[in-house]
Amino acid sequence: MGKFYITTPIYYVNDEPHIGHAYTTIAADVMARYKRSRGLRVLFSTGTDEHAQKVRQAAEKRGLPPQDYVDQLAESWKRVFSFLEIEFDDFIRTSEPRHKKVVQEFVSRLFSSGDIYKGYYEGWYCFWDEAFFPESEVQDRKCPDCLRELQWMREENYFFRLSRFTQPLLEHFLANPKFVEPEIRYNEMLNILKAGLKDISISRSTITWGVPIPFDSGHVVYVWVDALINYITVAGWPDDQEKFSLFWPADVHLVGKEINRFHSIIWPAMLLAAGLPLPRKVFAHGFWTKEGQKISKSLGNVIDPLKVVQDLNRYTQNDRVSVDVFRYFILREVPFGADGDFKDASLELRYSADLANDLGNLLNRSLPLVENHFQGTVPPGSADPNLGEEAEKTVSLVEGYMDNLSFSDALNSIWGFLGRLNKYLDEKAPWRLAKEGKTGELEDSLFNILEGLRFSSLLISPFMPTTAQIFWESLGMEGQVKNAIWDRELVWGRIPPGQRVRKKPPIFPRPGKERP
Ligand code: MSP
Repeated sequence: MGKFYITTPIYYVNDEPHIGHAYTTIAADVMARYKRSRGLRVLFSTGTDEHAQKVRQAAEKRGLPPQDYVDQLAESWKRVFSFLEIEFDDFIRTSEPRHKKVVQEFVSRLFSSGDIYKGYYEGWYCFWDEAFFPESEVQDRKCPDCLRELQWMREENYFFRLSRFTQPLLEHFLANPKFVEPEIRYNEMLNILKAGLKDISISRSTITWGVPIPFDSGHVVYVWVDALINYITVAGWPDDQEKFSLFWPADVHLVGKEINRFHSIIWPAMLLAAGLPLPRKVFAHGFWTKEGQKISKSLGNVIDPLKVVQDLNRYTQNDRVSVDVFRYFILREVPFGADGDFKDASLELRYSADLANDLGNLLNRSLPLVENHFQGTVPPGSADPNLGEEAEKTVSLVEGYMDNLSFSDALNSIWGFLGRLNKYLDEKAPWRLAKEGKTGELEDSLFNILEGLRFSSLLISPFMPTTAQIFWESLGMEGQVKNAIWDRELVWGRIPPGQRVRKKPPIFPRPGKERP
């Protein structure tokens, strides 16, 4: 059996999750669910990055000891992720003893191998991004990434010999053109490598909130080094060799484009220094903006995923289904890798056109026909080879797109198939066949429509777990659709005749006239 290890960045817990955090994590969840459906052993990890100074500052503002504060926030993040139907296998927190131990072990190894040395850092530091910037990159004391004011820092630090890894990384990039995706992000990294890497600071000696450097108690590990190591803590390094050799290297690190450099250059160099294999891929997705503006607290335009879901309840009256609408929208609307603008009008349009009309209405139109003409049981029928061919073609397209993390293309193909099914229903017009007493044709048409719906529920399941399950049960299928293995189930003509369909109220109600 194959394996698949996917990670999200671990999030700073100086606040509650917003749509950007939900985006990466939902994308990873969809991927994890998809790979489980393909029969792989999946490890999907997410978690919280707790040793940032802004986290400590947030605790201070609330008058709490940092550990108490992060304990509360980590629980709250887990709750939001569970609410969004994110089924992680591990939720790692950097303040956990299991992680601190691994960080210390890792740093000690690099120290022993001579890749860490003591020095003195003087330069700019961004408190918000926890990043060092050389003077040459800075204008007007502003962070080149987030444009906030920088601090001038002067302290004793331990340094990591990043420069030593310029050449090996360059070779790795050239030999693996898909190591970083999309291509634009690969090229950015390649240019950084071509310019040559400089050693970096990996400890702080003027703060205490962090993991102590094992060979110098006056220092804590730089928060980014602490955080990156989470990916091997989760995989069981160094104690659980069985788990580690099964899951490492990670198949994909999902990250936002602003933290690509840490994952595609610094982290691989750290792994090379420790003699560990590199992740197979880093995928850097784009950013969501709101009506054209960067989302930020100071602009007051942060999008709260819980609020989006609550607003969708005006249509669905059901939290679980609204979560599905949100998950669908953010992965359908914008190609993964590109930036996207969150527009309420686009969400409404997707809801009514794609979900209420194309998907929901197909089920709403089909089940009453089964009720009326076959006492609510799946009729026997012969599989339509043309429709079957389209269905199987759709499956292979979807699989190809999913394997490349092209979520919107995968959804587009599924919706292409739904369009075909709607057309099939219109053309066959079972209501007319019934009137004309053409029982054989009536059976065949409904059998094939129900089979198409079964295929659809399997295909949408990673994206919309609740909706897929409602469809599955409506068709009279047993068990959990998310546990079905695609290679076994996605064979055309398998829906068992005789099983009882169960009509339910519309999942995606819409005002206006339903089609017959
Ligand atoms: N703690 C670091 C990551 C350490 S990983 C070893 C960090 N945390 S963060 O809380 O700032 O979360 C960053 C992640 O949130 C980004 O990688 C990105 O996935 C996501 N996003 C934050 N804002 C975003 C948007 N506006 N749009 C899309 N994603 C964005 O960085």
